Amino acid sequence: MIIAPSILSADFGAMRSQVQEAEQAGCRLLHVDVMDGHFVPNITMGPDMVAMLSQAVNVPLDVHLMIEEPERFLSVFYEAGLQRKGSILTVHYEACPHIHRVISQIHRLGDGKVLAGCALNPGTPVSVLRDLLPDLDLVLIMTVDPGFGGQAAIESCLDKVRQVKEMADKLGQTVLIEVDGGIKLDNLERVQDADIVVMGSAVFNERGAGANLQAIQKKLENLAL
Ligand code: DX5
Ligand code: ZN
Repeated sequence: MIIAPSILSADFGAMRSQVQEAEQAGCRLLHVDVMDGHFVPNITMGPDMVAMLSQAVNVPLDVHLMIEEPERFLSVFYEAGLQRKGSILTVHYEACPHIHRVISQIHRLGDGKVLAGCALNPGTPVSVLRDLLPDLDLVLIMTVDPGFGGQAAIESCLDKVRQVKEMADKLGQTVLIEVDGGIKLDNLERVQDADIVVMGSAVFNERGAGANLQAIQKKLENLAL
């Protein structure tokens, strides 16, 4: 299991040093929440932040687009900093009437190695993925309604991680499963089928990313994940 710290909870005035501290503490993937004030009720960051982050750290970036018409911005985010191996570009199922086309567009970016993800809001059942799964590299399960860090996970959504895994196994498909929203030390165990766990407020808080990531790593070892 990989922990992807979400920079949404970092101190924006000290972003470079915050992400470098996370990298030094063993972070292998950095989650970047892009919000447009339309798809979600918040506005965050854009390609310039992605470019800065790709300069500041050596780990791949995991860009989570919570925006309407994401197809208009795929190449600009790719160019900004998604060339590194293991980079992820995720769009929301609910934002794309022609989701299959958008996933194909992600696969055609650059050298074709950026991983294409599809995110599901809490209100969207995992069954919508059935016909899409062969074309996806990653499924992102939202366990909060997207828009803000620091919310509590919605109980009923935690089980969706297992549901996607079962669906993929049944269909003989391999897909990475990522979970995002309200995940902390005390509910990490509940999402143990996930390959990637996003953690924002549990990583970037007063205690510091370094100390938090060490505690999380210890917990993962105890859970043998
Ligand atoms: C929410 C974002 C999340 C958020 C997670 O819309 O997609 O990535 O930063 O933050 P926590 O872990 O604090 O819920
Ligand atoms: Zn996110």
